[in-house]
Amino acid sequence: MNAATALLKKLSPAQPKSQNDSMLREFFINEIKDIYWAEKHLLKVLPKMAKAATSPELAQAFKDHRDMTEVQAGRLEQVFELLGEKPRAKKCEAMEGITKEGADIIEETEKGTATRDVGLILAAQKVEHYEISTYGGLAQLARTLGETKVAKLLETTLAEEKETDVALTEIAENSVNYQAKEEQED
Ligand SMILES: [Fe+2]
Ligand SMILES: [Fe+2]
Repeated sequence: MNAATALLKKLSPAQPKSQNDSMLREFFINEIKDIYWAEKHLLKVLPKMAKAATSPELAQAFKDHRDMTEVQAGRLEQVFELLGEKPRAKKCEAMEGITKEGADIIEETEKGTATRDVGLILAAQKVEHYEISTYGGLAQLARTLGETKVAKLLETTLAEEKETDVALTEIAENSVNYQAKEEQED
């Protein structure tokens, strides 16, 4: 190594990404593809849940969350762009399972009952909790990877999913659960 090369080496501490770092990045991108699929899937599922709901308040909550989900999918497209990747969806088996369960609840409960709403809220909260854990973990990973802008986008969605979960709990506790209990006593 001549003096000039040695100096250059000293002056440019930027090391090539370590093997672990790029493996983690690849893992992270894969997980983004997974949650992107989940959000896209929810865009189709939420209108069905709104249609199946008995309480107009719950139906409206599903419609509002559908619109929010569209914004969240757009946010993930921004994430792909920031990472220099094309937006791609990879099937999320977990979300498919949770939403299948929701579809079963619609089939197994009677139309126009509060009991159906109880079931829909339960299914929807499972969706929200899955999203909360995913976005929470991914935002943290984005920070580890030094992707601050990406982390902020993921944290914005995380806050929305948490708000939705709280709103669903309120609908359940303020009306739907009591009405459903009375249905059982009839
Ligand atoms: Fe979402
Ligand atoms: Fe959500």
